[in-house]
Amino acid sequence: MGVTGVAIAAGGATLLWRPNDLGAPHNAYFSNLNSLLKREGPGRPVMLIDSDRMDTNTDLIVNSVGPDKTYRVVVKSLPSVPLLQRVMDRAKTNSLMIFHQPFLNAIADAFPDSDALIGKPMPVAAAATFYKKLGNSNYDAENLVQWLIDTPERLQQYQALARQLGVKMRVNFEIDVGLHRGGLPEPETLKPVLDRINADPEHLEFSGLMGYEPHLTGLQATLEHPAVSKVLAIYRGFIDQAKVAGKDLEKLTLNGAGSHTLGIYQHDDTMNDLSAGSGVVKPTDFDTYHLTDNLPALFIATPILKRYDELKIPGDPAIAKLLPIWNPNMRRLYYIYGGYWKAQVVSPQGVPDPIYQSTNQSPYTTSESVNLEVDDYMFLRPTQSEHVMLQFGDLLPFKKEQLLEPWPIFHQTG
Ligand SMILES: Cc1ncc(COP(=O)(O)O)c(C=O)c1O
Repeated sequence: MGVTGVAIAAGGATLLWRPNDLGAPHNAYFSNLNSLLKREGPGRPVMLIDSDRMDTNTDLIVNSVGPDKTYRVVVKSLPSVPLLQRVMDRAKTNSLMIFHQPFLNAIADAFPDSDALIGKPMPVAAAATFYKKLGNSNYDAENLVQWLIDTPERLQQYQALARQLGVKMRVNFEIDVGLHRGGLPEPETLKPVLDRINADPEHLEFSGLMGYEPHLTGLQATLEHPAVSKVLAIYRGFIDQAKVAGKDLEKLTLNGAGSHTLGIYQHDDTMNDLSAGSGVVKPTDFDTYHLTDNLPALFIATPILKRYDELKIPGDPAIAKLLPIWNPNMRRLYYIYGGYWKAQVVSPQGVPDPIYQSTNQSPYTTSESVNLEVDDYMFLRPTQSEHVMLQFGDLLPFKKEQLLEPWPIFHQTG
């Protein structure tokens, strides 16, 4: 092929690759939210929660857990007392999973009757801080907290702390059911740690097992899936060891699952305690198989600061002229208030990634099918709720076309 042939082929390929106009205005749902926020919003980025959708999602989770198991709400994924209260009331559960010492102290204050399983093995110093901050509170930590322990060494550290403080601690063991993120590696390793607990009933009590298996996400797994059978066989191996040690299974918290996988176990009774948090609000990372019926309920809404009906970028003006000719989705330019969140634009539709990321003002281009004005809002769906929900101050719940009382978030320290 000659030079001209290559040029024609390249031109043809470029034409073939030319993006379509993907833009679309806000639909009725986001249009209503836009009007609501323009009327009553604070004029800065906010984290919205659709309370009706949240209730629907909670019901779906409760239904998957079924009547014979405990639904445990994952606090890091729903980090706000009124938000947790709503889920706990709706789901009729008192069981929480907690991953951060300041959150544990906040839970002890706000939900003094809840059952608090720690979700990751925390440094013993964090446990010591928890007790220090608890002070003279009436909170019954001895019976309500289950400390997660992953190694014999950490058990020894916690035992030393319990002795030093003159308290008794309930201990739940992290077990490795295939994720390989740590925990007791195989059933036989349970015996020596149980022996240590049995030898010190004044300070330690065995409360159960926690085997998390998010590696099953994305397999469209059902109970019959070999990867699921493997997880459950490993889990049962640990349970058998606990039985051999004379433990009463009825009294143990046999925890596992997360939002992605909870739907697998409806007809299995290996575990009696299933966790989920994110599925209640469904950020984009949770657009997964077992959550197909759950609805997105969490949105960042942010005002548009500037609009231009041409592409303006630093550097060669010819490129700014050519790009919109090639890509119709680059014909308008909007600067939003803030940006660079772990989130994707959901409305208006068909908005490409920003030209560059800025936490101050992020530039997004759209096609001419999008016709938003300065002070209108753009909406993004967080990719995850953990961490992102803590970046906006109070959460703004809404019901239909009405903003509800804001929900304060947890403090990161304290
Ligand atoms: C131990 C454990 N259980 C359960 C979960 C599930 O939380 P979510 O339902 O928010 O994904 C997690 C999430 O990281 C976890 O680490």
